Amino acid sequence: MSFLRNLVSTIPRFARVGPPTIQRCLRTPFAYQRSVLPSKFYHHGSPGAHSRIAVVGTGNVGASIAYALVLKDVANEILLVDANRSLAKGQRLDLDDASLFSATHVKDVTLQEAGKADVIVITAGARQKENESRADLIDRNYQVLESIISAMQPIQKDAIMLLVANPVDVLTYFAQELSGLPRNQVIGSGTYLDSSRLRGFLSEVLEVNNESIHSPVLGEHGDSQFISWNTANIAGQPILSFPRVANLDKELVREKIAGKAMDIIKLKGSTYFGIATCTASLCETIIKNRRDIRPLSVYVDRLGAVMSMPAKLGWYGVEEIYELNGDPGEEQKLVDIAQEFKKTCKKYEHPNRTE
Ligand SMILES: NC(=O)c1ccc[n+]([C@@H]2O[C@H](COP(=O)([O-])OP(=O)(O)OC[C@H]3O[C@@H](n4cnc5c(N)ncnc54)[C@H](O)[C@@H]3O)[C@@H](O)[C@H]2O)c1
Repeated sequence: MSFLRNLVSTIPRFARVGPPTIQRCLRTPFAYQRSVLPSKFYHHGSPGAHSRIAVVGTGNVGASIAYALVLKDVANEILLVDANRSLAKGQRLDLDDASLFSATHVKDVTLQEAGKADVIVITAGARQKENESRADLIDRNYQVLESIISAMQPIQKDAIMLLVANPVDVLTYFAQELSGLPRNQVIGSGTYLDSSRLRGFLSEVLEVNNESIHSPVLGEHGDSQFISWNTANIAGQPILSFPRVANLDKELVREKIAGKAMDIIKLKGSTYFGIATCTASLCETIIKNRRDIRPLSVYVDRLGAVMSMPAKLGWYGVEEIYELNGDPGEEQKLVDIAQEFKKTCKKYEHPNRTE
């Protein structure tokens, strides 16, 4: 008995009592609070011990994500799938050469196998063309997403699904509806890339390393995104208290950040390096249970919509969503974005939804 007691005392407290309660998080028909150890704890021992990331869609974005994951050595295995099987195989063979310099093993697999991964990244679908908005992709990409999710079933119940394909907020919502996973396990890359672009811009203005700048772009990953100037800060000091920032034309900055993707598309046809780096970093946050706070596409209960809000991310998905500090102008923007979102989604409402 004392041997058993000693053995139990060597198990970290976290493992014995289970993960912290998911608070303030998404209460939906799918959501649940985990009171028991999730099965992946038993499968893999601990976050990151043996990990598999599936990348669905191995075009420009998917292949770049896989490459970034290999270079960063985030997971043991990267699983590649594409409707064009020879493309997935070609990307795998090419990435094999890159993986000689890392501990990551790359495979090309079926959608069913991808459904068993710890993190499932979805990039499959049409991309924007010049002068096309992300919203113009909905019809095409809804069909693609529906077929992918149904072919992946049964999806590993502890998997985290990370949407990257556009329009990312709307597709995240559809994936929450269709996958059967709790909503806090289905997220989108949201405005993480836009926020990084803004940090890069402000870093030049202020001559401060971008990692020391906290300046979230929130709302839609699209034309109506906005900069939360009221929460932005450096070392706890409001960013608007810095004269170089206070004197900026704020609307011009917003347009510059929101329009950067189209600037790139006009020059080279598509964007992929930035989003690939952001996505690989999100995968690392999940696999290593880093609990970073990132602006991500999450379901905001009180607004009934998926949009980018600062969220704590780790092995169990989104654990907490952080509200803005009550600025009425920014709150109104969230409400307007939620209204537009609901109008868009109504057309695709899933018949099985019970809510
Ligand atoms: N979230 C962001 O910040 C961000 C940034 C850049 C691009 N994107 C989006 O990422 C998506 C991919 O862009 P891309 O440049 O890689 O496009 P791409 O055309 O190069 O690749 C898309 C891939 O999806 C595959 N595909 C299509 N239907 C499929 C299915 N049913 N199953 C499996 N694979 C399927 C295609 O064969 C193709 O290889 C687009 O929707 C684009 O708008 C998002």
